[in-house]
Parts: sequence; structure tokens; C-alpha cells
Amino acid sequence: MTAPRRFVTVVGARPQFVKAAAVSRAVARHNAGRPEQALEERLVHTGQHYDDEMSGAIFTELGLAEPAAHLGIGSGPHGRQTGAMLERLEPVLVDAAPAAVLVYGDTNSTLAGALAAAKLGIPVAHVEAGLRSGRWEMAEEVNRVVADRLADLLFAPSASAVANLAREGIVAGVHLVGDVMLDVLRWTVAEGPPAFGAPDGRFALATVHRAETTDDPSRLRSVVSALGRVAAGGLPVLLPLHPRTRAALGAWDPPAGVTVVPPVGHGELVALAARADVVLTDSGGLQKEAYWLGVRCVTLRDETEWIETVAAGWNVLAGTDEDRIVLAAAQPAPAGPRPELYGDGHAADAVVRQLSAFLWT
Ligand code: UD1
Repeated sequence: MTAPRRFVTVVGARPQFVKAAAVSRAVARHNAGRPEQALEERLVHTGQHYDDEMSGAIFTELGLAEPAAHLGIGSGPHGRQTGAMLERLEPVLVDAAPAAVLVYGDTNSTLAGALAAAKLGIPVAHVEAGLRSGRWEMAEEVNRVVADRLADLLFAPSASAVANLAREGIVAGVHLVGDVMLDVLRWTVAEGPPAFGAPDGRFALATVHRAETTDDPSRLRSVVSALGRVAAGGLPVLLPLHPRTRAALGAWDPPAGVTVVPPVGHGELVALAARADVVLTDSGGLQKEAYWLGVRCVTLRDETEWIETVAAGWNVLAGTDEDRIVLAAAQPAPAGPRPELYGDGHAADAVVRQLSAFLWT
């Protein structure tokens, strides 16, 4: 039998572990069903997220394989972080000699993985291609646009993402597959939520981590104060705090009714979101998870890449304006059915099908 076709997956930040878990499971299914076109995945962890609560525990929870290489880069200014990744990825890719490199989303690890591969002439596959905020000042926007430009295979989660790519002249290699995060959500719900200490009664679930919020003291103050007002209005707020936000807040007394906890695992976050009255977040993934779970979302940003959730009436863009956040949090859920957004929960199988076709022809 011919050797399996090898690809390298580059991950580094928490949401990428979630997405990669969906695809790794789909690779195992593919190999069981089509052993004559087997794929071999080698996982490389850049180390962008390194705490146990941001990385180790999530790897274990999601059943991800031990990385074949851990680059141990850690945090730092963008240039240094991305540059260090490029430098350390290159020999790893040369040694692995993969037929493709798979990257996810829009982090500095995505950019470094795509660029290191492209410079070596290795084809790049990008999961979550075509998302745009239209804000070039966002590090994530730069990362996405460059990764998409470098990619040979582009896996888009929505028709609007496909249209964004077409506007930039990118049509070859684009596949509308849906969102691999829905795959993970489906199995998380099906396997049952993990045991955890959820608050009694009604509550709002909040997460805040984006640089545009945490690195601007007035925006961060405004968000925190709005969370306090939501709690004072009778809806206690649970805030699993990302380390970036914890650092930005420094020594800080949360407002009454706002409970701060360390970052939680993925299953626990999903279970909390499912039980919450409303989700308040600047995360991309959580906007969709709230939608799929039928929970309203107030997005603490001025724009979103997940425009369909807003059009469907389940997501409100409140920015960081206190009054708008408080008002939006108090709105009732929209009536009527929720349209199916971002695929059918089998996006990872579609990714692997296309990847296999690419690598075996
Ligand atoms: C990154 C991504 C963002 C993604 C997010 C998910 C970029 C440019 N941004 O932001 O798109 O939504 O991950 O969480 O790649 N820190 C720790 N422990 C960790 C990781 C981070 O303490 O395990 C702290 C450090 O103080 C660090 C700060 O968090 O300086 C920010 O980490 P960074 O790697 O810049 O990325 P995120 O803010 O998490």
C-alpha cells in the first residue's frame, strides 16, 4: 500500500485547538473509510497560548494528539512573536516535508504557518477563509487577508465569506464547507456537558479578550462598567477572564454581581452559554455558539465577521458603549425559527474530503 499523504497542522491559540479537533477526528474517519487514500496529520503547536488553562487542559479535553513539535514561542509583540514562529517553523516543515500545511482562523500562528509554508513552496490550506471585518487596524484582519492570499485551498464557512474572497479576486480553490466549530458544538452537546459549577438562576455569560478592547483603557472601562450595570439590573454576570484581560485590568475589584472566574474549558463554556440568558462577548466563536444554542448575543465590538447572526436578529452589535450594551442585554429573544447558519455540522468531513482530493491528485 502507498504511504499516506502527510500534512502539517499549525495551531497556537485556544480557538484553533477547538477547530483542529474537529478536523483531526474527520481525518481518522477518512482513514478508516478510505485507507487507500490515507492522510497523516502532524500537529505543530507554536506555543502562542501556553498556560494550562488556555492550552494544555483544552488539548486533553478535545482529545487532540500530542503535538509532534512544540515551538514554545509564547507571548510578545506581534513582530517578535510572528517572526519567532517563522524562524522555528521553517526547519520543522523542512524536516516533515508535508504535501500541505493546514492553518486555522486569524491569529499570528495562522499567519506564520501560512507564510512559512508558502516560502518553502508548500501548498497552504486555510480553514475559516474569507472572513472580513473591514478593519485593517485589526491584527486578525491582516492575518486573515494574508493567509487567504497565500492559500491554495480555502475553506469558507459561509456564502458571505466566499463573496468576500471573490471581491479580492480569489475564486480558485475556494470551498464552501460550513463551520467546523458547529461540528464540535454538536458533539459537545451530544456527549453531555462536563460537571461544573454553573450559577443558580438567570445569568449573563461574558467574555472579553480582543486587543481592541483590552488595550484601550476607555473601551475596557466602559465594557466593565456596562457589565456592572447589567448585574445591578438583576442579571448576574459570569466572566471567565482571559489572561490578556486579567493583565490589562491589573488589581481590580469587579462590580457587585459580576463573578470573575479563570478561563474555562470548551465544553464548560458551551454548557454555560446554553444555560445563560444572554451572552456578552467580543469573541468570534462565542457569537456563533450562542446562535446555534438559541441564546441571544450582544457583541462588544463595532463590527462582526459573522454578519448572518446579526441579520437573523440574534446578535446585536453594541460596541463598547455602556448604554447600548445595557439596553441590548435587556432585549427579548427574537420570535420565530432560527435559520440554519454555517453548515450542517459536517464541515470537517468536507474539509478532509477536499484536502484528500487535493493531496491524492
Ligand atoms: C489571540 C489572537 C486572537 C484570538 C485569541 C484567542 C492574534 C493576533 N490574536 O489573541 O485573534 O481570538 O488569541 O484567545 O493572534 N497570555 C497568557 N497565557 C496564555 C496566552 C496568553 O498569559 O496562555 C497572555 C499574555 O499576557 C499575552 C496576552 O495574553 O501577552 C495576549 O496573548 P496573545 O498571544 O497576544 O493573543 P490573544 O490576546 O490571546
